[in-house]
Amino acid sequence: MTKLTVAGLIAFKQQRKKITMITAYDAPSARFADDAGIDAILVGDSAAMTVFGYEETTAITLEEMLLLARAARRGTTRALLVADMPFGSVQVSDAATVANALRFVNEAGVDAVKIEAAGTMTRRIGAVIDSGIPVVGHIGLTPQSADRLGGYKPQGRTAEAAEQLVEDAGALERAGCAAIVLEAMPQPVAAAITRSLTIPTIGIGAGVECDGQVLVWHDVLGLSMKVPKFVQQYADLGSEIVKALHAYIADVQSGRFPDPTHTYAMSDEERTRFEKTRHNLSATKP
Ligand code: KIV
Repeated sequence: MTKLTVAGLIAFKQQRKKITMITAYDAPSARFADDAGIDAILVGDSAAMTVFGYEETTAITLEEMLLLARAARRGTTRALLVADMPFGSVQVSDAATVANALRFVNEAGVDAVKIEAAGTMTRRIGAVIDSGIPVVGHIGLTPQSADRLGGYKPQGRTAEAAEQLVEDAGALERAGCAAIVLEAMPQPVAAAITRSLTIPTIGIGAGVECDGQVLVWHDVLGLSMKVPKFVQQYADLGSEIVKALHAYIADVQSGRFPDPTHTYAMSDEERTRFEKTRHNLSATKP
């Protein structure tokens, strides 16, 4: 199977072929996603909550994100691998942002980085793109700015706010972004943005008219405690895990596990010699 590239994603839009993206934070999950035929894998900073148990995405560090991105790289063959630049890694200066983005490429082998920013930060995204690193933009509900946005709330629900999102998306395209994630906004707004761009939009809580969709691994598979309204859960692995662990505990406590098929054989001859040695040793003990 040929590896998907950023140019390939843009071709998807031209061919009106929907893009599928899911988060993954380790090698086996990335491998499952890749084998299933997912187009793009996002090492999202949602890992702050899903993997590390922090309260906010802003808590995750650059080093933690790099560790997860390296693991996901080992499980990804065909899909485009994108990593989130965490809070703090894009705030200081253009030079520091480019240096941090380069670490994702050089140390983790990602194909693109995703940056949550718009407005005055668009120039900074341009600096990363100018350095040769493909960037996926992210507008709407940007969790790294949840405090400034008044919480985890949908965005673009007034005509003015919606127009601002259309303008932000256009500016990101002009800066050279390869695609834009549209999070938590009314469907007509995401649809207008999608129509106004030549690069693909990837929606999450933004309706069906985006060029693709992204969801969080733990939400899709039933591993999250709480899921947002826009999530479709496709499996309940959380319940399956608890069921399996209950069975394991019961088997260990009752002595049903391990049975002889789980242990290693010894020839009768070696066993007799071993038991004789044990016997002789205990006989010579004072
Ligand atoms: O961090 C993440 O998982 C994301 C997706 C929700 C798009 O940014």
